[in-house]
Amino acid sequence: MMLRALFEEIVLIDADDALARAEAADLSDANALARPARVWAGTYADAATARIAVVTAGAASRHQESRLALASRSAAIVVQCARSLADAGFDGILLVASNPVDLLAAVALRHAGLPAARVIGTGTLLDTSRLRQALAHRLDVAPGAIHGFVLGEHGDSEVAAFSSLRIGGQPLESFAPEADLPAVAEEVRAAAYRIIEGKGFTSFGIATAIVRICEAIVRDERAILPVSARLSGEFGIDDLHLSMPCILGAGGIERVLLPDLDEREKAALKRSAEILRDALARLDSGG
Ligand SMILES: NC(=O)c1ccc[n+]([C@@H]2O[C@H](COP(=O)([O-])OP(=O)(O)OC[C@H]3O[C@@H](n4cnc5c(N)ncnc54)[C@H](O)[C@@H]3O)[C@@H](O)[C@H]2O)c1
Repeated sequence: MMLRALFEEIVLIDADDALARAEAADLSDANALARPARVWAGTYADAATARIAVVTAGAASRHQESRLALASRSAAIVVQCARSLADAGFDGILLVASNPVDLLAAVALRHAGLPAARVIGTGTLLDTSRLRQALAHRLDVAPGAIHGFVLGEHGDSEVAAFSSLRIGGQPLESFAPEADLPAVAEEVRAAAYRIIEGKGFTSFGIATAIVRICEAIVRDERAILPVSARLSGEFGIDDLHLSMPCILGAGGIERVLLPDLDEREKAALKRSAEILRDALARLDSGG
């Protein structure tokens, strides 16, 4: 974020004060060689007038802990962040990256005191980048030349919407009839696991996705990105956060779009929504 010179001020808040101070000091060193920005470790009061608050706080996974138990500890952390921002009078856009991101964006919305258009999850923007990258390698075109989306849950039930994907205006089945789409979808789905196996966490991909979303908002770009938005009836899905292509601008989610999907993709999206609804219910009931 600092290197893209998007903001004049960046406040870091972490439960671990010493960590926030150290990261801020390290970033400040880097800033001497970049465009000026003030980066410091602060408080929620310092963030009250921020344009965007990005929530990346989460619980670290413990040995043999279930996904739901981890989700429930991360949910408690996100609730605390959202409430603290609300108490400080924050009235900007809340971008949630903490996992499980669709559930935690829904949880944040309940506590942030903000309209739904201003509580966004990073969703499948990262998965969509991975899809473009995976296809770019196979088809020998630039990732940016591939127009398409991964939709639904950021997670195992995500849906690679191949039927609406276009390369130079051409559908995938005519551009590359031989492409092994299930293998591509699986590579995308497993990408995070492979990275975590090697380095323990993922960082550059998600950080760049966060920056891209912030950029679209700060510059009121009306860019169309797949992010986790509160749905209200799209594809029959209500009252849930999941990823659809959205027009992003100064007001956050300016509009949720409905891409053309084939019947199989529509069914997969509904399944993804059911999985999320069920997980949210279990999270609400404490497991
Ligand atoms: N959406 C995505 O695509 C994506 C990608 C990567 C990571 N993530 C998620 O981002 C989150 C963070 O990942 P990480 O690798 O940076 O983990 P991390 O453990 O390195 O960082 C989490 C930080 O949250 C802080 N924290 C804990 N409770 C807090 C609280 N109540 N208030 C403020 N800070 C608090 C911790 O001190 C820690 O520094 C995880 O939930 C992870 O799953 C999401």
